Amino acid sequence: MNLTNQVFPVIWQDDHVWLIDQNRLPGEYDLVQISRSDDMAVAIKTMIVRGAPAIGVAAAYGMYLGAREIITADRDQFLARLEAVAKILRETRPTAVNLFWAIARMMKVARQTIGPIAHIKQTLLDAAQAIQAEDLQTCQAIGDHGLDALPQTPARLRLLTHCNAGALATAGYGTALGVVRSAWRDDRLERVYADETRPRLQGARLTAWECVQEGIPITLITDSMAAHCMQQGMVDAVVVGADRITANGDAANKIGTYSLALVAKAHSIPFFVAAPLSTVDFALSEGSHIPIEERDSDEVRQIGETVICPVGVDFYNPAFDVTPAALITAIFTEHGAVKPHELIHLKPKQVL
Ligand code: MRU
Repeated sequence: MNLTNQVFPVIWQDDHVWLIDQNRLPGEYDLVQISRSDDMAVAIKTMIVRGAPAIGVAAAYGMYLGAREIITADRDQFLARLEAVAKILRETRPTAVNLFWAIARMMKVARQTIGPIAHIKQTLLDAAQAIQAEDLQTCQAIGDHGLDALPQTPARLRLLTHCNAGALATAGYGTALGVVRSAWRDDRLERVYADETRPRLQGARLTAWECVQEGIPITLITDSMAAHCMQQGMVDAVVVGADRITANGDAANKIGTYSLALVAKAHSIPFFVAAPLSTVDFALSEGSHIPIEERDSDEVRQIGETVICPVGVDFYNPAFDVTPAALITAIFTEHGAVKPHELIHLKPKQVL
């Protein structure tokens, strides 16, 4: 692995955040400066920053930026206004639970910190940086545990992934793509198959970009080719990320993940979900309760600027789907690989 090419989608520098503009990759590598919580909310909503753990990290910094803007010496007033910042950030994207997890953790830090407002603000910055640093370590652990739990044969695996669950989607290593990175580092990877991931093409634009940066062999396919590849014996395992996993092990991830799991089952190919515990919503008993984001119809109507359908059609654009626990071979977490029904035993380890 070439660590000099490591990608960090969220960077804290001096007194502001830099975000890699993920809407411009792979054509342009642009950084966007964020100094206000409102701008962070827009960046999350418009997917300049995206991917469940990266959204959590960005929201944590958004909470600090919002806290910084509050001018009062009154603690109750400060907390009430911080709650208003939290509300705006919570309304950006509904499915990835890391957003809500990070905001809840930041609110808890604010409420539990005693002392002057300036001290609470500094503690919030420390907390955002801790969330970011923890996620990097967590993803490295997920990658290594996942690698240990992958099939032992063949020696070099052909892994299929969907969307982008890589460095760009986390603090910097990736969940599903973290497993790929660990496999590549240990010479256990033959090749990655990446679904292009319509409608926003995170696989084609982002996963492919990350792999090319590190020299990881990658074959890009359209989403509709995945079943054929599995039928042809070209895939040893499927590894995907998640946006929210419920207590019973059902997992929401990018639209198209569910159909991959069904096809994998039909071909007896193991299907793995890689995610940190911050992606697990232990408050929800099962996947049918997960709110599924619906996005603008233009994402289906167009590819880039090109309209691909006639005027007069209706659109449906759910951004995520839910894969039932029964289709998931194992969930890779920072505490090891577990069967979906064993996930509940990790609840005490979740940090909030
Ligand atoms: O809509 P996106 O691009 O934010 O969706 C991202 C995904 O679905 C990822 O697979 C998921 O967030 C896991 S990222 C480690």
